[in-house]
Amino acid sequence: MHAAVITAFDAPPSYREHPEPVAAGEHDLVVDVLAAGLHHLTRAKANGSHYSSTGALPLVPGADAVVRDAQGRLRYAALDDTPFGTFADRTVIDERRSVVLPDEVDPVRIAAAMNPAMSSWVALRRRIDFRPGGRVLILGATGNAGRMAVQIAKLLGAAHVTAAGRDPARLAALPALGADQTVTFDQIERAADADVVIDYVWGEPSAGAMIPLLTARTDRGAPLTWIQIGSLAGRTAPIPSAALRAARLQLVGSGIGSVPARHFLEELPALAAAVTRGEIDVRARAVPLAEVSHAWTTAATDERIVFVP
Ligand SMILES: NC(=O)c1ccc[n+]([C@@H]2O[C@H](COP(=O)([O-])OP(=O)(O)OC[C@H]3O[C@@H](n4cnc5c(N)ncnc54)[C@H](OP(=O)(O)O)[C@@H]3O)[C@@H](O)[C@H]2O)c1
Repeated sequence: MHAAVITAFDAPPSYREHPEPVAAGEHDLVVDVLAAGLHHLTRAKANGSHYSSTGALPLVPGADAVVRDAQGRLRYAALDDTPFGTFADRTVIDERRSVVLPDEVDPVRIAAAMNPAMSSWVALRRRIDFRPGGRVLILGATGNAGRMAVQIAKLLGAAHVTAAGRDPARLAALPALGADQTVTFDQIERAADADVVIDYVWGEPSAGAMIPLLTARTDRGAPLTWIQIGSLAGRTAPIPSAALRAARLQLVGSGIGSVPARHFLEELPALAAAVTRGEIDVRARAVPLAEVSHAWTTAATDERIVFVP
């Protein structure tokens, strides 16, 4: 069979012949891969920089996929840390880390959506005690995960959602997805009365937004939970010490580890159903897996690249 294979952390994968995967554990299934998304997580694991990276080479990248099992059922599967990922004709999944999908779903759409959508879905449902009626501010709302977070916050009962980003033209599309307000980072105080911040940006922009946001709050004693999820602008952020004193700010992170794997898995069916019902806007571009080297290095696009073997 063919797979995308990484042999060096500083080079893109190459499409080549690769040994067939083998089921080892009692819950393992060898499956055909139908569609697998090129997510930030996938790239970070493939270049060795993600905190869950094993450092082992060679590796087949791909953290999740829509697959077909031996019984012909479609499943969405999220893989554990493994050197045998989903960018291949076939892979091995743990059936406990998968959810059976209806036959009529579009595999490319599901493969594009689940990873970015899961970020806000799990953060709001499992990482914090989010109450319907809350006010949510999304930093980095113009990306795939950010756009979906606008819709997911509303689906989960947010009364008011502010979409924040650096590009006013791209922000202008977000009210159509449910954003009540859009702001650039230099207007962040307009979202001062948020209860929850969903932060995909981190780095200087997030750190710089904290004091203006916190000091503009109507009630600085009202709790504000800031959920660190992505690091598009920087892996570290120079957080001013005053930010932790000026208001009732609580900083938490949401991702693999801070949310137990079983909680992610328990949320898969409900999220897959929401995507299937069309409640979440998905932008996907299917690309043949044979073109993986080229697609890996071409400029970023708004659409999530989904490899189709
Ligand atoms: N923890 C989790 O559970 C989890 C799950 C999934 C994803 N993530 C993380 O979430 C983040 C977003 O993922 P995604 O799939 O939405 O990515 P994406 O679709 O590639 O989104 C990229 C967006 O980032 C914005 N951006 C890039 N650099 C920026 C900067 N310096 N300042 C402000 N905005 C910047 C861009 O905004 P403009 O160009 O419009 O300005 C662009 O729209 C990633 O860091 C990813 O690793 C975390």
